Amino acid sequence: MKATGTANGKIILMGEHSVVYGEPAVAIPFPATSIETTIKKITGPVTLDCFFYHGPFSQAPERLLNVTTVIMKTLEKLQQPLENFSITIKSTIPAERGMGSSAAVAAATIRALFNYFKKELTTACLMELTDISEKIAHGNPSGLDTAMTSSQSPLFFIKGQPIIPFLLNVSAYLVVADTGVTGQTKEAVNSIALLSQRSPEKTTAAIHTLGKLTRQAKSAIEQNRPADLGVYMNEAHHLLDFLGVSNKELNQLVAAALATDALGAKLTGGGRGGCMIALADNKTSADRISAALLKAGAVNTWIHKMGED
Ligand code: MEV
Repeated sequence: MKATGTANGKIILMGEHSVVYGEPAVAIPFPATSIETTIKKITGPVTLDCFFYHGPFSQAPERLLNVTTVIMKTLEKLQQPLENFSITIKSTIPAERGMGSSAAVAAATIRALFNYFKKELTTACLMELTDISEKIAHGNPSGLDTAMTSSQSPLFFIKGQPIIPFLLNVSAYLVVADTGVTGQTKEAVNSIALLSQRSPEKTTAAIHTLGKLTRQAKSAIEQNRPADLGVYMNEAHHLLDFLGVSNKELNQLVAAALATDALGAKLTGGGRGGCMIALADNKTSADRISAALLKAGAVNTWIHKMGED
């Protein structure tokens, strides 16, 4: 007996961090990276096999608390005991790089367990369980990463409001680059909370402007204005840097992309490491930007075509 569950990575185009404060975000599913969890029947205690750990479930390390907790909560929902199966998690989403790997691990594992025990999983239940994992991983999640695990299309997301899917109607390419440095979403989210206590006016103004830029970016996408989208991305990166969630590596890659052909570039996700994105007019530019980013220190790049043919 065997069952699997999968989930995609995601890329936040605009609105990371400000989304925690009720501003909108625009995110896209990123199927170039994904997670697959497999549950197999064995006899005896449950085992866990993933990038960070191989061994008995009961001895999994603290850093996997979000995963182990969501497995326990899912079994509670399914009214099944923690025994007689193995869990294998395979991922091509780089962990802790702002691509939503923690939410995707949770979603893939919940889906695999529901498939294994042949129970129907509603979107509401998937979201509720994924959110438990995200609260442990990120402290105060907006719910964006959770929402993205069940979406096949780009989303315009505002915390606590119905999710709005929309078309990526923009003729451009996105180059995604990994700094190779582990991102620190929880710390970055906390640091903005602290900053908003120390300098409330400046922080609130920056967060509002990020929200405005996100709305403008959505219009630029809908009206196929890639050059304007690039400008909004650049402004968003400056504000995120001002809020203290960029770092040297991200700024270097952003500068390298802009010095090549990029229409715009910014960090994506939690920041302080992790990934950045650059917008390219066409495939040739995207290839040139990707090469420049690898030369400037990126450990990996992906090219993603936006819009329709
Ligand atoms: C993390 O992928 C996105 C953040 O905006 C945090 C959140 O939305 O919960 C940084």
